[in-house]
Amino acid sequence: MTERGSFASKIGIILATAGSAVGLGNIWRFPVETGTNGGAAFIIIYLACVLILGIPMMTAEFIIGRRTHTNIATAYKQLAPGEPWFLTGYAGMLCVTLILSYYSVVAGWTLKYAMSSALTEMSAVSDTAAFFNDFASSTWAPMCYSVVFLVITHLIIERGIERGIESFSKVLMPILLVIMIVLVAGALSMPGAKTGVEFLLKPDFGKITGDVVLSALGQAFFSLSLAIGCLSTYASYFKNDVNLGQTAASVVGLDTSVAILSGFIIFPAVFSVAGASPDAGPGLVFITLPNIFNNVFSGMPALGYVFSLLFYVLLVLAALTSTISMHEEVTAFVHERYQVNRLRAASVMTVISIVLSVLCCLSFGPLKDFTPFFGMGFFDFFNYVTAKFIMPISGIILCLFVGWRLKRQVVVEELTNRGSLHIPAWVCSLFIFFLRWMAPIAIGLIFVNELGIWK
Ligand code: PHE
Repeated sequence: MTERGSFASKIGIILATAGSAVGLGNIWRFPVETGTNGGAAFIIIYLACVLILGIPMMTAEFIIGRRTHTNIATAYKQLAPGEPWFLTGYAGMLCVTLILSYYSVVAGWTLKYAMSSALTEMSAVSDTAAFFNDFASSTWAPMCYSVVFLVITHLIIERGIERGIESFSKVLMPILLVIMIVLVAGALSMPGAKTGVEFLLKPDFGKITGDVVLSALGQAFFSLSLAIGCLSTYASYFKNDVNLGQTAASVVGLDTSVAILSGFIIFPAVFSVAGASPDAGPGLVFITLPNIFNNVFSGMPALGYVFSLLFYVLLVLAALTSTISMHEEVTAFVHERYQVNRLRAASVMTVISIVLSVLCCLSFGPLKDFTPFFGMGFFDFFNYVTAKFIMPISGIILCLFVGWRLKRQVVVEELTNRGSLHIPAWVCSLFIFFLRWMAPIAIGLIFVNELGIWK
């Protein structure tokens, strides 16, 4: 048997797990969703989703990992021997591999923007849409950036749990939070700050529709890295005295704070230039924002330089702590299941994700017209199939597994650290009831909505 690593400190656990959750989902996707779904009203619904659904589901995932101290597929096999539940573990690994493949493309773009900001190339761009499109549709450059990103992820993973994931998260996450605070202060001093803040804080309840509620649920899911095994894998490295519920609450709190803070960076900036719209969609961060940095700071180029550089470095760091967690899930499985050393196990995942990521990069350029998957290319298809199928279905199965299949005694032992934490019995019962009924129904609704069956 190989010696199993573990996280050494509680703060390391929180920062590494929050690192998985905090990513492009918070700084890129959250503002896009908030912008297109009406601002403050969307945020209120989102907060309800992460608090009501996110904390219990994250705790449920932690229970599976910490109970078994093993990779996701073996964990299901140990908890329900001879039953097909382990297939969810394989579906989770397939899902993170596909997500990592397209996510590393966007992560590569953030690296390109950070480099271009550092080299002052960014501040000289006059047509930011053309700049983005030329770059993303070229053959080699995007591919090189995403491969570099995956190689950096590989090098961290290869160092193991404590020396790799934990020690990097302990450095990267505080830097990320400091950069965010500097950027929020900068954004709030921009000319359009007041309108931006109102957009985020003054809800227009008329904007809440069924669609907005379900988009908020979907965003909560993606942002918290829920239900596909990343969090179980991290929890398999938790020590037995870690309070699972409290850790989930801290991680959800950090993830949500980062999402809201990024709203406070982006919307004050967006409302600072005439003609920029909060519902610019996915181009918000790569087309609208660079344009704003150049325009708002045209009289103070040094400030524009610092702002743009810090913002894209922030995106790079956030993406990196997430790609690490996706990579680790499969690395842990290969390492333990096939008894190969971590370097080899990590190399397998790195090679697979490089190949798939190259295909995703090319789907913006030379393979643009290659759309064999229901009219979609690789990038869009991977995004679609993971977010709309595998994640919600795995989420429902996770709730049903912990709610119905695990014995109540196992759940209570994990919640209370075998009786050493004083958690009242009614809290445990409520938790199980929630996983049995409320969460699967809520996720079922997102699923049906995303498939477009009603509307
Ligand atoms: N939660 C990450 C983000 O917000 C993305 C992610 C999804 C990471 C699934 C791991 C697993 O960017």
